[in-house]
Amino acid sequence: MTRVLVTGGAGFIGSHFVHHALEAHPDWQVTVLDKLTYAGNPANLEDLEGQARYRFLKGDIAIRRDVQAAWDGGVDLLFNFAAETHVDRSIGDPEGFIRTDVYGTYTLLEEARSRGLRAFVQISTDEVYGSVPSGVSREDATLLPSNPYSASKAAADRLAYSYHATYGLPVFITRASNNYGPRQYPEKLIPLFITNALDGQPLPLYGDGLNVRDWLYVADHCTALDTVIERGTPGEVYNVGGGNERRNIDITGRILDHLGVPRTFIRYVPDRPGHDRRYALDCGKLRALGWTPRHNFEAAIDDTIRWYAAHRDWWEPIKSGAYLEYYRTQYRL
Ligand code: NAD
Ligand code: DAU
Repeated sequence: MTRVLVTGGAGFIGSHFVHHALEAHPDWQVTVLDKLTYAGNPANLEDLEGQARYRFLKGDIAIRRDVQAAWDGGVDLLFNFAAETHVDRSIGDPEGFIRTDVYGTYTLLEEARSRGLRAFVQISTDEVYGSVPSGVSREDATLLPSNPYSASKAAADRLAYSYHATYGLPVFITRASNNYGPRQYPEKLIPLFITNALDGQPLPLYGDGLNVRDWLYVADHCTALDTVIERGTPGEVYNVGGGNERRNIDITGRILDHLGVPRTFIRYVPDRPGHDRRYALDCGKLRALGWTPRHNFEAAIDDTIRWYAAHRDWWEPIKSGAYLEYYRTQYRL
């Protein structure tokens, strides 16, 4: 059995990866370590309860004894998804981002250094390159993060690398573009706009709506991680992009058209401070290892819209209480 620790496994991408891991790797024994912050949702993993190859531990990656408890019995592969992940929240209150994304990653690296393991996969992000006005970012491009979230992820990314260069830890770093799919917390563009449209609420578009992101279906992210650990080289960075550059206004239009909601529901709101205009990745390095994204953007976003329409039981409880407070403060709507 290969002992696998997945931190942040109750969140969006982490929970997809846990499901994928158990299906695709019958010899993997998966432990999830998750603090269950506002973004961590036990419902994302509830169908796995009772499975012999799966266990869940509630704990904080920034607390060494929680990490030690998760390490009991040993760890062969570690995938560090745990993070504070929402740019807007990092602008309002950066501290938790430094604590989890930087100090939490440090805590995991220290445990890995003292106990040893086969692969430490640090899930980084394309945001570390900062805005890319033209062309595409290769893995050796300058890092120029421009908000507290991306700066904290860049710190963790380079800290992880330093444990490879200094201590020989088998670290692999992935920098993925914007993920989308089922079970994404409805503070992020796509699930926020789908659920608002389903509820007849306005869709708050920042600035002129012309910022560009490269969209990656979450299942394609999971297969990319398999490729990295199976065929990647320790100490290397791998970009993971969907190859689907879209302007925010075009994503918004697609969601509205799919749901038959008029464009009058678009509400232009003041821009996000430090808003990166465009992200774009060169993924040749990972493609050379045999990975390719399999999901067509138009088909997968339509599937995603259908999923939210069919799973109000998943997102309605989230969009209440503390969420509404956050939403009113953020958008003043
Ligand atoms: P998410 O916000 O949906 O989930 C984050 C998870 O981490 C939650 O389950 C939360 O409870 C957990 N967590 C937070 N702080 C923790 C702590 N201190 N200890 C243990 N668990 C903690 O995030 P996501 O969108 O699934 O992103 C997962 C990872 O992928 C993050 O590292 C993020 O930076 C990276 N990433 C995300 C995207 C994207 O488009 N969503 C793209 C590239 C990279
Ligand atoms: O690029 C990878 C990153 O993608 C990940 O590292 C982050 O964890 C993830 O949150 C995401 O960051 P973004 O800031 O790109 O995602 P978000 O969904 O917040 O915003 C996408 C675009 O939509 C961005 O240009 C801002 C815009 N937007 C977003 C929200 C929430 C709006 O116009 N209105 C909104 O209400």
